[in-house]
Amino acid sequence: MEKKQSLDTICIQGGWQPKNGEPRQLPIYQSTTFKYTTSEQMGRLFDLEENGYFYTRLANPTNDAVAAKICALEGGVGAMLTSSGQAANFYAIMNLCQAGDHVVSSAAIYGGTTNLFTVTIPKMGVECTLVSPDATEEELAAAFRPNTKALFAETIANPALTVLDIEKFAKVAHEHGVPLIVDNTFATPINCRPFEWGADIVHYKRYSVLVCHLCKKLYIKHRKRRIGNSLTKHKLCVWSECCIQLLLCSIRRYECSCNTHLRHSYRDEVEGASIDG
Ligand SMILES: Cc1ncc(COP(=O)(O)O)c(C=O)c1O
Repeated sequence: MEKKQSLDTICIQGGWQPKNGEPRQLPIYQSTTFKYTTSEQMGRLFDLEENGYFYTRLANPTNDAVAAKICALEGGVGAMLTSSGQAANFYAIMNLCQAGDHVVSSAAIYGGTTNLFTVTIPKMGVECTLVSPDATEEELAAAFRPNTKALFAETIANPALTVLDIEKFAKVAHEHGVPLIVDNTFATPINCRPFEWGADIVHYKRYSVLVCHLCKKLYIKHRKRRIGNSLTKHKLCVWSECCIQLLLCSIRRYECSCNTHLRHSYRDEVEGASIDG
């Protein structure tokens, strides 16, 4: 039986297992396109008859390895990177919905996502009903319609910091035959893996989770009540090679840094240490 790897081992080893003679560190593939000998081969890739890289905008080996690492941390079956958290939200919803459909979402979510659900997707014919994250099973069920295609919530809401009862949300979603999508940005797979509690799709905004030197900032900003827009300038684009390097380095030391940040936050909160101390 294969030995299950611990989270800190996955942070280091996940997603990239070099074979003999291959680089120990995951290379950053700085190429928009990939070489093939014949146009027939390329044609088969375009027609999705064969697997392979041909255009970085669709798939790139570095991005795939990072996605595989995050996937392994979460205990998922497959993952993809998008160039923003909002793109991940949009893909998740529009992959399930078309004009005439409906989604239910916790009302305690990041403001940009609220805007996506209540302004943007309605323009495409998809309606959204917001519910309290503390809604009872009956209240949640009452928000569902025959055309509801997904239930959405954040593990720890930004910025409300309400903690989701994932099992309850998953139960109601599954009773209605739809997936539960969880934005796990604040919790991270180190603290909570929503699949273990019944979620079906998990996604992230990267800055606060995986580029963990910003993690402490996040907690500190919360304590100063300045969480939110002030952080958006730290957004990263996944196509930028130096950013993907940063993301990789951060994940490698993530388990240890995340726990350190949590310890510091706890110390600040409970023992009243100064914010800058
Ligand atoms: C919890 C959460 N989800 C999604 C997003 C959106 O991510 P992005 O800014 O990369 O579009 C944010 C942004 O702050 C967020 O905090």
